[in-house]
Amino acid sequence: MKTHHFLRATVAVLASTLLLTGCEKPPPETVQLGYRGVGQELVANPKILAATVAANQVPTPQPPVSSDGPRAGDVYENVQVLGDLSVGEFSRLMVAMTEWVSPEEGCNYCHVDEGFQYDTKYTKRVARVMTVMTQNANVAWGDHVGGAGVTCYTCHRGLNIPANVWATDPGQPHAPGVMTAGQNIASVTAAYSSLPNDPLTPYLEGDEEEAKDLPWRVAGRTALPTGNRSSVKQTEWIYSLMMHFSDSLGVNCTHCHNTRAFYDWEQSSPARVKAWYGIRMVREMNNKYVNDTADWLPDHRKGPMGDPLKVNCATCHQGAYKPLLGANMIQDYPNLARYTLAAKTEPAAEEAMETAPMDDPEAGDAMQEAVEEIIEEEMTTSE
Ligand code: HEC
Ligand code: HEC
Ligand code: HEC
Ligand code: HEC
Repeated sequence: MKTHHFLRATVAVLASTLLLTGCEKPPPETVQLGYRGVGQELVANPKILAATVAANQVPTPQPPVSSDGPRAGDVYENVQVLGDLSVGEFSRLMVAMTEWVSPEEGCNYCHVDEGFQYDTKYTKRVARVMTVMTQNANVAWGDHVGGAGVTCYTCHRGLNIPANVWATDPGQPHAPGVMTAGQNIASVTAAYSSLPNDPLTPYLEGDEEEAKDLPWRVAGRTALPTGNRSSVKQTEWIYSLMMHFSDSLGVNCTHCHNTRAFYDWEQSSPARVKAWYGIRMVREMNNKYVNDTADWLPDHRKGPMGDPLKVNCATCHQGAYKPLLGANMIQDYPNLARYTLAAKTEPAAEEAMETAPMDDPEAGDAMQEAVEEIIEEEMTTSE
């Protein structure tokens, strides 16, 4: 009997040691984000945190130069966006761009030997679009990027193509007539869950009008059913997007939500409002800028469906709750924080500011109604 007990105890100890070796060491630390007791906290493992800090170092800024002197637009032949910079500022930005996007290849990643003025390489034309996109993010989307701001480095980090980009996913092969809804494959985008594998195409690419009809608000607002007709399928789409959010920022759902009421803005953290603007900013980046480059891109820079590689939350965040852990890079590159091309505030940003979710609780209800209408339609057509 005694040996039995001993054996059993040994097995139990061994089993628990084995189980624990699967856990992250040292013990994680938590930071309280919401009221005590609501479980809104950030869980961080110091060891992983150290790796995140190491991976988010900002390069030393190029030495400052004078903004006086002749303008780049007057001196050079083919400057369409950065014309009002001084020649010194212009050259400094070219050096920085090279460091951020093509440190190995140098100036000739975008330029040709015949002269800097030629737009021979598609990369130069893409870089021009990217310049306007970056300026627009800093000027029009302060509600999201305000504070740290964005430079080419935020996304590129010394790579020609940022480490985290996406294209429309054709899904797995399936028999005709079978609706897979992109499920039952471990999708990277959905953080290896079995949720719909490409939530990005519907949620982060379409224009504002298209996005209005998507299932955004799916949770019931009352304990008992009172007319919420959102289906499990629809709910899975937003959950899939949420997995992408959490994974991209390296945070739990509780960074933004109080999980007792996912829908409730009043009980959510301010980060959720930031994310709300983020959705709209990313959609505009893809819709207005990245998709504009599609015509000149070589095939190897396109996804399997022929669309360009696009921006998602991970493109900037790369696993950090703020890109580069909130380091401010834009203060050293003020020319990327203003429109140098005659342009005005983007309408999408303006519209978003008018309908911010916290200011306008009705905005949610309007969307909910739209969702209900779609379900209603679906039900009648399938009958
Ligand atoms: C990532 C792409 C990229 C890299 C790398 C790059 N450039 Fe440029 N360069 C551009 C773009 C885009 C323009 C046009 C800017 C505009 O239209 O406002 C430009 C324009 C120029 C011009 C103006 C030419 C003219 O007459 O119109 C000069 C000069 C220049 N670059 C120099 C350099 C130098 C020197 C380097 C390397 C230190 C460099 N560039 C690296 C993208 C790049
Ligand atoms: C929000 C993220 C983001 C920012 C900021 C950004 N880029 Fe990009 N960049 C992308 C994505 C996504 C692609 C791939 C899509 C494409 O080629 O149009 C890309 C592609 C490029 C390419 C094409 C490279 C190749 O080999 O095909 C160049 C050049 C480039 N970016 C330059 C820049 C410059 C210069 C800046 C700053 C003025 C910048 N980017 C800022 C996301 C970004
Ligand atoms: C970075 C912030 C952020 C994180 C992290 C996040 N969410 Fe969300 N979530 C949002 C935003 C913003 C919306 C609202 C979208 C809208 O309605 O416009 C939302 C909406 C939702 C909704 C729909 C609410 C409704 O009204 O029906 C659910 C459910 C949800 N999230 C669940 C989750 C889950 C589960 C996780 C973790 C896997 C998570 N969220 C992580 C920001 C976040
Ligand atoms: C163009 C780059 C870029 C993209 C793309 C981007 N973000 Fe951000 N995000 C930022 C910057 C920069 C900040 C930090 C601003 C500051 O200094 O407070 C930030 C901050 C945030 C914060 C606030 C964090 C906190 O705790 O205060 C949340 C939440 C967030 N982003 C969510 C998202 C989500 C969700 C997406 C995708 C829909 C997204 N972001 C896409 C650049 C980006």
